[in-house]
Amino acid sequence: MSRPRVLSGVQPTGALHLGNWLGAIRNWVDLQETHDTFVCVVDLHAITVPHDPSRLAEDTRSTAALYLACGIDPKRCSVFVQSQVAAHSELCWLLNCVTPLNWLERMIQFKEKAVKQGDNVSVGLLDYPVLMAADILLYDADLVPVGEDQKQHLELARDIAQQRINARFRGKDTPVLKVPKPLILKEGARVMSLTDGRSKMSKSDPNEGSRITLLDPPELITKKIKRAKTDPERGLEFGNPDRPETDNLLGLYAILSGKGRQQAATECAEMGWGQFKPLLAEATVSALEPIQARYRELMQDPTELDQVLRTGREKAETVANDTLERVRDALGFARPA
Ligand code: TYM
Repeated sequence: MSRPRVLSGVQPTGALHLGNWLGAIRNWVDLQETHDTFVCVVDLHAITVPHDPSRLAEDTRSTAALYLACGIDPKRCSVFVQSQVAAHSELCWLLNCVTPLNWLERMIQFKEKAVKQGDNVSVGLLDYPVLMAADILLYDADLVPVGEDQKQHLELARDIAQQRINARFRGKDTPVLKVPKPLILKEGARVMSLTDGRSKMSKSDPNEGSRITLLDPPELITKKIKRAKTDPERGLEFGNPDRPETDNLLGLYAILSGKGRQQAATECAEMGWGQFKPLLAEATVSALEPIQARYRELMQDPTELDQVLRTGREKAETVANDTLERVRDALGFARPA
């Protein structure tokens, strides 16, 4: 029996933060033990908003290096760059032609990002979720580990596969596309901003103090946590809707210290902020230290990363081209002579 398949990705837009790690990458690392895992750096998604061409290649490599530094093992998992596997763009076009426009117009992330872009919204930004569906469907993924904010995009990918391809077009003997399931773990699925416990930690927040990036040096991490928004109450607790910052910071401590929610809640139940914040800073610094050390090694010697991305691309291309051919056949395209 072949192992179930996993596909996921992160955009190379600026430094990855705790949300990307805890909501997504950390789960990939667990899944690679039991699943056939593909992870890509989704650079085509990164250009759906204005981008800096002088940084794109470097950010792409840096993101891939962070995957490895976080524990992705290239012997178990294929790591590749989305734009280097042409099938992603081609399947996206085929899916575009069967996806109703109004499905895309109601995507929450599109609406939120479109507001920020004003008159400058690109067709690519609207099409973002179709490209994401292509990423997933090309690999016949069973599971897609993502943070909570990607749930709607996953539903769209399922609907496109089921209603717009499988229900309308015939595969040879099986449905044309595998219908994927999201994997959103409760812990870490929604890491919130350090400056506002009601909005998620995000790369696009103009306030750098709102997020901790995986490459922040220890002093900066300590400073950001020291300045993180809190409330006047003493003692930390989970689940109090009036204390979103408390819930978030305690949740981070539970994961980063490795103690888990119950032990963290008991330990911090009576604690004041002056005692808690240094503890959280210490847990964060120690959790990130090995990642940063490995990242520096990988960036110093480009040959290892080059090799990983080359092998990853070759494996990805084989799987992706097979699926693309299946879809082209089902849609009735002429085969090359
Ligand atoms: P991106 O780069 O915006 O986010 C990458 C991953 O990080 C998760 N994430 C979070 N999780 C918890 N708390 C947060 N504050 C937080 N912020 C981000 C996201 O849910 C995501 O899992 N559209 C995808 C990229 C993508 C993709 C794919 C993912 C393109 N194609 C195919 C899976 C499969 C995205 O959100 O990127």
